[in-house]
Amino acid sequence: MKSKSDIGLVGLAVMGENLILNMESKGFTVTAYNRSYSKVEKFIEGRAKGKNIRGADSVKTLVESLATPRKVMLMVKAGQAVDDFIEQLIPFLDQGDIIIDGGNTHFPDSNRRTEYLESKGLLYIGTGVSGGEEGALKGPSIMLGGSKKAWPLVKDIFQSISAKVADENGNEVVPCCDWVGDAGAGHFVKMVHNGIEYGDMQLICEAYQLMKVVLGLNADEIQKVFAHWNTTELDSYLIDITKDIFAFKDEDGEPLVEKILDTAGQKGTGKWTGVTALDLGVPLTLIADSVFARCISAKKEQRVAASKVISGPEIHFDGDKAEFIENLRQAVLAAKIVSYAQGYMLMQEAAKEFNWELNYGGIALMWRGGCIIRSAFLGKIKEAYDADPKLENLLLTPYFKDTVESSQAGWRKVVGTAVTNGIAIPCLSSALTYFDGFRTARLPANLLQAQRDYFGAHTYERTDKPRGEFFHTNWTGRGGDTSSTTYDV
Ligand code: 6PG
Repeated sequence: MKSKSDIGLVGLAVMGENLILNMESKGFTVTAYNRSYSKVEKFIEGRAKGKNIRGADSVKTLVESLATPRKVMLMVKAGQAVDDFIEQLIPFLDQGDIIIDGGNTHFPDSNRRTEYLESKGLLYIGTGVSGGEEGALKGPSIMLGGSKKAWPLVKDIFQSISAKVADENGNEVVPCCDWVGDAGAGHFVKMVHNGIEYGDMQLICEAYQLMKVVLGLNADEIQKVFAHWNTTELDSYLIDITKDIFAFKDEDGEPLVEKILDTAGQKGTGKWTGVTALDLGVPLTLIADSVFARCISAKKEQRVAASKVISGPEIHFDGDKAEFIENLRQAVLAAKIVSYAQGYMLMQEAAKEFNWELNYGGIALMWRGGCIIRSAFLGKIKEAYDADPKLENLLLTPYFKDTVESSQAGWRKVVGTAVTNGIAIPCLSSALTYFDGFRTARLPANLLQAQRDYFGAHTYERTDKPRGEFFHTNWTGRGGDTSSTTYDV
C-alpha cells in the first residue's frame, strides 16, 4: 500500500463503500472514514480486506493519511451532515486541499459551499453521482461542478471510476464523467437528471396502467411488451429493469409487483427540479406532473375512500390490442422527447441565471452510460447539441421533430382512450398539451391579458403595435386612466 492515500472517503453507506472499492480497483489507495468507527472496522475486515484501503478512526487521522493536495469525498446525507463534516475537516486542511460532496445535494447549497470554502483558500466540488449501488461499484455517471481549479487534480480518479461509452463512431471509449461548470452546476445537472428520471419512470407506469386496466394484460404479457420496447428507440436502463420487474415472482409464484402498495416515496430531487422550473419560468410540465403523480399516489386512504363514492366511466376497449400497444410505445417515446426538451430548457435557463457555461452535448454523453436514465436516445441528444450547441429546443431538431410528428397520431389515440376510460395519465397527457401549446402560434393568452387589464389595470401589448409598448383600457367606463406598473416575475 502507498504510504499516503490518493483520496479519503467519508460515509460508509452503500454508495460510499462501493465507490471506495471502485477507486481501489482502478489503482487508487483510499482512506475510509465513518462517524461510527465500528462501520470502518467492519468494512476493513470485510469487503476491503487485502485491498489498498486503510481505515481512519478520526477526522484528524483521515486527513493525515492523505497525499497533498488532499482530497476528501463526502458520501453522507445531503444537508446539515455535509456542513458538519466540512466544519470538522477545515481545521486539518491546508490551502488548495479539496472537499468533494457526492451526495444528492440541493444546488444552492453547493453554490454557497463553493464560495465559503474558496474564501478559506480551499477548493470545493459538488458532484452528482448516479447509478445506484451497482453503478457506484462498476462505473457511475459523475457530474462535477465547483472550484474549477480542482478539476485537473481529481480528473484522473473520477474519469477512471466512471462508466464508459463508445464515441459516435463506436470506437473510442469516453468516460461518462466531466466538468459541468462552476459552483453548484454539477448538482444542478444531477437534479435535472433526477427530475428526468421521475418523468421517465412515471411514463412507464402510465403505460403499465393502460396495458393492465384497459387492455387487461397480465404481468407476463406486459413483460413481453417492455422486452420488445427495449429493442426499439426506447432502449434504456429503466425499461430494461421494468421488464425484469414484471418477470419477478413472489414466493407463491405470483408477480411481486402486484403485491407492492401503490404509494410512491420521494427524496426531494424531483420536487427541487419543479420548484426551480417555476422560479425560472420554464414550462417543465412533465417532470412537475410526475412529482404530483407521486403526491397523489401517497394519498392512498383518500383515494380509496373517493373510489367508493365517485364513479367514472366503465372500461371499454374493442380496438386492436397490438395496434394500441404500438401507439402506446409511440406515445411514451414522444412524451419522453418532450420531457428531455423541457429538462434541457431548464438547464439553459439556469445557465443564463447563474452564469454557467454548460456543455449540453457533454451532459447527454455523461448520461449516456452509468446513470439511471441511461439510454440509446441520449446519443441522439448529444448529436443534436453537437450539430447546434446553441439549440433552443430539442423539438426543433430534425430527428426529434420527425419522431414526434410521426408518433403524434398514436399518442393522441392513447390519450383519448385513457381519457374516455377514466385512466389517469398525467405525464402522457400533459406532455401532449405542452406539445400542442408549443406548436401553436396564437394561444388564448390575449384574453388572459384582457382579463388582467380589466380587473387590475395590468396592461397589455397589441398585435398592431411594436412589442414593449403597453396599453390600458378603461373596460367598464368606471375605472380611472391609471394603469399598474408592468413587470413580469
Ligand atoms: C441516481 C438516483 C439516485 C436515487 C434517487 C431516488 O441517479 O442514482 O437518482 O440519486 O435513486 O435519489 O430518488 P427518489 O427517492 O426521490 O425517488
